[in-house]
Amino acid sequence: MNFATLNNGVEVPVLGLGTYNIGRSDDEVYNAIRSALDLGYRHIDTAAMYGNEAPIGKAIRESGIGREEIFVTTKLWGSDVLKGNARGAFEQSMHKLDIGYIDLYLVHWPVRGNHVSVWFDMQKIFLSGAAKAIGLSNYLKHHLEDLMKEASVVPAVNQVELHPYLIQQELIDYCAENGIRPEAWSPLGSSKTRLLDEPVLVELAEKHNKSVAQIILRWNLERGVIAIPKSSSPERQAENIAVFDFRLSQPDIEKINSLDKNHRTGIHPDKIEF
Ligand SMILES: NC(=O)c1ccc[n+]([C@@H]2O[C@H](COP(=O)([O-])OP(=O)(O)OC[C@H]3O[C@@H](n4cnc5c(N)ncnc54)[C@H](OP(=O)(O)O)[C@@H]3O)[C@@H](O)[C@H]2O)c1
Repeated sequence: MNFATLNNGVEVPVLGLGTYNIGRSDDEVYNAIRSALDLGYRHIDTAAMYGNEAPIGKAIRESGIGREEIFVTTKLWGSDVLKGNARGAFEQSMHKLDIGYIDLYLVHWPVRGNHVSVWFDMQKIFLSGAAKAIGLSNYLKHHLEDLMKEASVVPAVNQVELHPYLIQQELIDYCAENGIRPEAWSPLGSSKTRLLDEPVLVELAEKHNKSVAQIILRWNLERGVIAIPKSSSPERQAENIAVFDFRLSQPDIEKINSLDKNHRTGIHPDKIEF
C-alpha cells in the first residue's frame, strides 16, 4: 500500500474501501469490512448517512489489526449542518464507530448559506484532537474559494465525484495549489455508468494485462488522487487493491483524460437540498 501525506502530516493509504450500500444488513457490512481488512485494505470510507458506522466499527475492533494502522473517514450530514449540530453528530459517529478517534471527518456536502460557517465547528472538532484531520466533500471551486478566505485550518481533503467521464481537472489543480488532497468518490463510475465497458479503457487494460477497474484506479493514483472504490465482493476487493505493480504512461493518462464529458452521476453540488 502507498500513502499520501495530508497537509497536517497525517498519512493516508491512497486506496481505500467505499462503503455506501456495501451490505443490506449489519452482518453483510461486517463481513465485507472484515474481508477487505484481510485483503490488506487499511482505509475505510463511511458516513453518518450510510447507516453502517456501527458494523464497520465492530469489524475494525474485531479484526485484530492495530487501530493506528487503519484510516477511517466519516462525514457530517447536511441536516445536522442546518441544525447547527456538528459537534453532536460527530459525537454520535464516534459512539457508533467506537474506535477511539476518527482519522478524517468531512463535511458531506456544501449546505447553501452554511458552507463556510460549518467550518468553524469543524475546526473546533479538529482542535479537540478527536479527529486527526478534517476536510470537505462535494465542494466546488467557488465553495473552496469562499472557505479559504475564512479558514484557519486548511481542509486536508476534498472528496468529490471523479472518474474518467468527470475528470475535474480545474478543481484538482485548485486543490493541489492550496494543499488540499483530492479524493475520488464513484471512482469506477458506480453502477450508474458503463465506464467499465469503455473501449479506450478496455484497450489499455489489454495492453497492461490488467482489468479496466485497475486501469481507472491507477489513473487516479497517477494524478495524486486518493480513490475509494466500493465492492462487496472479496474477489473485486482484491482486484481493486492490486494496482501497485504497474504504471501508466503519460500518453495513457492523456487518453483517459480525453474521455471526459463532464458527466455527473450524482447531484450537482449547487443543487443539493436538505
Ligand atoms: N462523498 C460523497 O458524497 C459520496 C457519494 C457517493 C459515494 N461516496 C463514497 O465513494 C464510494 C465509492 O463510490 P460508489 O460506491 O458510488 O461507486 P464505485 O466505487 O465507482 O463503484 C461501485 C460499483 O462498482 C462495482 N465494482 C467494484 N469493483 C469492481 C470491479 N473490479 N469490477 C467490476 N465492478 C466493480 C460494485 O459492485 P460490487 O460491490 O458487486 O463489486 C458497485 O456496483 C462509496 O461507497 C462511498 O464510500 C461518497
